[in-house]
Amino acid sequence: MIATVPSNRISKAAAPDFTQDLDLTADEVRYLLELALAVKRDAPRHARALEGRSIALLFEKPSLRTRLTFELAIRELGGSSVGTEGKIDAREPLRDVARNLARWVDGIVVRTFGQTVIDELALWSSVPVINALSDSFHPCQALADMLTLQEKLGGLRGMTLAFAGDGNNMAHSLMLSSARLGMNFALATPPGFGPDPAVAAQAESLAAASGARLSITTNLEEALTGANAVYTDVWASMGQEDEAAARHKIFAPYQIDERALSIAQPGAIFMHCLPAKRGLEVTDAVMESPQSVVFDQAENRLHAQKALLLMML
Ligand code: CP
Repeated sequence: MIATVPSNRISKAAAPDFTQDLDLTADEVRYLLELALAVKRDAPRHARALEGRSIALLFEKPSLRTRLTFELAIRELGGSSVGTEGKIDAREPLRDVARNLARWVDGIVVRTFGQTVIDELALWSSVPVINALSDSFHPCQALADMLTLQEKLGGLRGMTLAFAGDGNNMAHSLMLSSARLGMNFALATPPGFGPDPAVAAQAESLAAASGARLSITTNLEEALTGANAVYTDVWASMGQEDEAAARHKIFAPYQIDERALSIAQPGAIFMHCLPAKRGLEVTDAVMESPQSVVFDQAENRLHAQKALLLMML
C-alpha cells in the first residue's frame, strides 16, 4: 500500500513535503505541538506570518473539517488560498499539474484516493505538498489528535490509545504517530480488516525504539483494557460505499457504546475524527458523553495545521 515513486525525480530545491506522518521527525512533531499550543493561545501574534503567500487546495473527496480549517488557517495567518474539486489529473498528467501549480503558489494541500497521487505531485512539485487525506494516511488529523491527547492526558509517553474498527488510513496515521512518540497503541479490528502489514512493521520498529507498546488484535475488550483514550472511525471510508452494508454487519461487535467505553480506564476520553455515523461505530450516548472530546479534536485541526504551515512555509 505504501506508494513507490518513479526514479526520474526532478530537482526539488529544499521543499519539505508532508505526504505521510513520518515525513516529520519525532522532534519536529514535538516542536509542532508546542507551536500549535502557542498559536492556539496567541493567534494574533502570527496574523501576518503567511503574508504574500498562497496555497492551492486540491480536494478529490468531500471535506468539512480539513478543507475549512486549512482555508481558515491560511487566511488567519495572512495568506490566501485557491482550490479545485474533482479528479486532479482528469485533463492533464499529475506531473504537469504539479509544475503549473509550483509557478503560482507556495504550497499544495491534497485530498485524494491513492497515496501515489500525493507522492507523484510531491515528486514533481518544487513547493511543499501536504497530505489532507489519502486512502493510506490522514497525517493532519493525527497531528491534531496528538495535540488533543497531550492537552487532555497531560502528555503522551506511557499513555495508551485504543483504536476500534477498521485498520484504515486513520489507524495507520495514529499507529505511526503514537509508536514514534512513546504512546502505547492497541488496535482491535475484525479478522481480515487489520492494517497494512508494511505500516504495522514500521510502527513495530518505531515502538521498539521509543519504548511504546503496540498491539494488534481482533479482541475489542483486550484492546480497550487499560486505555486512556478510545478512538473509532467510520466502518466504510470514502470510496467504500458499495461495501457499507456488508461492513456494518462485520464491524457491529466493535461498536463503542457505554459498556465498551467502561472497559477502558475510568474517565478515558472518547475520540473520533468525524464525521461519525451515530448508531454504527459509536452510539449517540458516547458521542454526547462528558468523556467525548470530538469537538476539541475538530478545533485542534485549525491550530495544528497553522503550526504545520508555519513550519513548512
Ligand atoms: N476528519 C476529517 O478529515 O474531516 P473532513 O472529512 O470533514 O475533512
